[in-house]
Amino acid sequence: MNEAQAKKRIEKLREELNFHNYRYYVLDDPVISDGSYDRLMRELEGLEKEYPRLITPSSPTQRVGAPPLDKFEEVRHAVPMLSLANAFEEAEAREFDGRVKRGLKTDLDVEYCVELKIDGVAVELVYENGFFITGSTRGDGLVGENVTQNLKTIKSIPMALLLKKGGSLPSRLEVRGEVYLPLQAFQEFNLKRERSGESLFANPRNAAAGSLRQLDSSITAQRPLDIFCHGIGQFTGATLASQWELLDALQAWGFKVNPNRRRCKNIDRVFDYYREMDDLREKLPYEIDGVVLKVNSFRHQETLGTIARSPRWALAFKFKPKQVTTKILDIVVNVGRTGALTPTAVLEPVRVGGVTVSSATLHNQDEVDRKDVRIGDTVVVQRAGDVIPEVVRVIPEKRTGKEKKFRLPDRCPVCGSEVDRPEGEAVARCTGIACPAKLKETIFHFASRDAMNIDGLGEKIIEQFVDKGLIKDYADLYRLTLDDLLTLERMGPKLADNILTAIRSSPKTTLERLIYALGILHVGEHIAKLLAHEFSALEELSQAPLEKLTGIKGIGEQIASSIVKFFEQKGNQKVIRKLKEFGVEVPSRPARPRPKDLKLEGKSFVFTGGLKTLSREEAESRVESLGGKASSSVSKKTDYVVVGEDPGSKYEKAKALGVKILSEDEFLELLR
Ligand code: IVH
Repeated sequence: MNEAQAKKRIEKLREELNFHNYRYYVLDDPVISDGSYDRLMRELEGLEKEYPRLITPSSPTQRVGAPPLDKFEEVRHAVPMLSLANAFEEAEAREFDGRVKRGLKTDLDVEYCVELKIDGVAVELVYENGFFITGSTRGDGLVGENVTQNLKTIKSIPMALLLKKGGSLPSRLEVRGEVYLPLQAFQEFNLKRERSGESLFANPRNAAAGSLRQLDSSITAQRPLDIFCHGIGQFTGATLASQWELLDALQAWGFKVNPNRRRCKNIDRVFDYYREMDDLREKLPYEIDGVVLKVNSFRHQETLGTIARSPRWALAFKFKPKQVTTKILDIVVNVGRTGALTPTAVLEPVRVGGVTVSSATLHNQDEVDRKDVRIGDTVVVQRAGDVIPEVVRVIPEKRTGKEKKFRLPDRCPVCGSEVDRPEGEAVARCTGIACPAKLKETIFHFASRDAMNIDGLGEKIIEQFVDKGLIKDYADLYRLTLDDLLTLERMGPKLADNILTAIRSSPKTTLERLIYALGILHVGEHIAKLLAHEFSALEELSQAPLEKLTGIKGIGEQIASSIVKFFEQKGNQKVIRKLKEFGVEVPSRPARPRPKDLKLEGKSFVFTGGLKTLSREEAESRVESLGGKASSSVSKKTDYVVVGEDPGSKYEKAKALGVKILSEDEFLELLR
């Protein structure tokens, strides 16, 4: 076969594979066997291997296997991705209908296209000349993240539009939809995480969002994400008159559209649909949190237009959370990865919102006190979208007098270390450095890039170290031998040697990185930097009294007391001694005097876009040397946003929040 013939065959194979993919993943109605599908795929792979020049990004072979990314690029949506106004009661939905009629200057009924509101993650898929080019998250509505590789792993997303004979092909099409994780997959996924001691996702939406935000698409590929498409952004080509026609068109192009949509000729029919869907909800294999009403006619949608960030022609009519009553058999304490102690009610098992629940979070002691929840109480429990149910209130009339009050323990139930709950904070935490519940996270932080920067020490490896009992704290990392490493799964001598070298060279670092690496609560990179300025060695910091710490500009009571408590803990002292014994000690140096000219004291800066005269790091370090703080995200507390070339979404956010914006020249002037 020559190249021209191969090209023809490749195109034919892709078309066939796309079609069968659609039959299987979108329609759930395959017309060939798995074996025949695999044969077609293998033939295509073989030809593409022989003629690599003919590989295209939207070939069905390109759904998996892309190299991991360092970060996600930003994608600006050609048409902003809006959000929806909400209604919780029929009366509010009726008011919406009234507003629509006034907007359209009519007394007649308005027809709505009503759909399920899928509780997932909003995405946009861009097709050019029929091929899937880019996919992105909603982000702030204007700019999202490029998650194309991850979206390609979702088999119900077409790599190429299906075309009916004689049908016209839109030259550019932006499709919007909701990526979700089916309930069963979510439950299995969380169970697996629970078994391996990982933190759980609160709900399928969070799990879907977490899966979509993986830099390594091979991880996303392991999660059976799916999508329902429900709208478009920019598009050129076909003419469509209504939302209903649009959904038909999406379906015809090969997108998965939810089958439960309905055209309702007036608001009363919408209410019928709402009630039916509320009943159906428990039987659906995915989560929905309401229905979405859309004025069906596009002409009418245009007349109505948009206010702020949501269209006047659409409404999310939310379901009420499902509530049931049950009894609290016990209250137990869970210790999370950050050491947070969470009181959890053990419930008499009860079905709510389609699943059986046997425990509910009580969040923290304040919540227990506020709701006056006692062991033995009869309570109202609800699932409000979240799969982890919540105790709403106690039914005091059901009390017998035998109920017992609950108090969080003073010592961690896992490791026995002291529990700390600073004034004014709701969360109580275990202070033990070697608490197994916290250990994996603590070590991961210690080894991370901005801390000790131990290359190659990923989550999977750390997990095995801890599970095999090879390390009990981060100091033990320095005790590891080649033989220890070789006991791990999928570990060859070369990789083991690289990791060992990375561990052993990590102590050659700066004091601020070491302080940051220790994982002291509230001590992030910025505070670690301030401390490294003030103290000449870890030893000196570990003995610093509270007053000395609070005397440092930028360090308040809360942070200071967290530092003191950290070094007071016997367990922590032991680990730090061990670090020293293993030679993890940065060279002692005279404490650097803090810069005198602190003209940017207390001011926070965010940079967006490229600067012409300085690198981002230089700019940040100039700010910090003058007592200011450089942060990566814009909030109301940001003092200045410095805008360079091609600024990102931070610029829009700064404008929206009214934060002072500086050009590069103005910034340099300020530094002078
Ligand atoms: S239409 C301008 N339809 O709900 C209209 N959204 O709360 C934009 N959502 O960001 C959305 N199911 O991510 C629409 N059938 C559906 C939906 C849906 C879920 C999400 C969507 C949107 C959010 C708004």
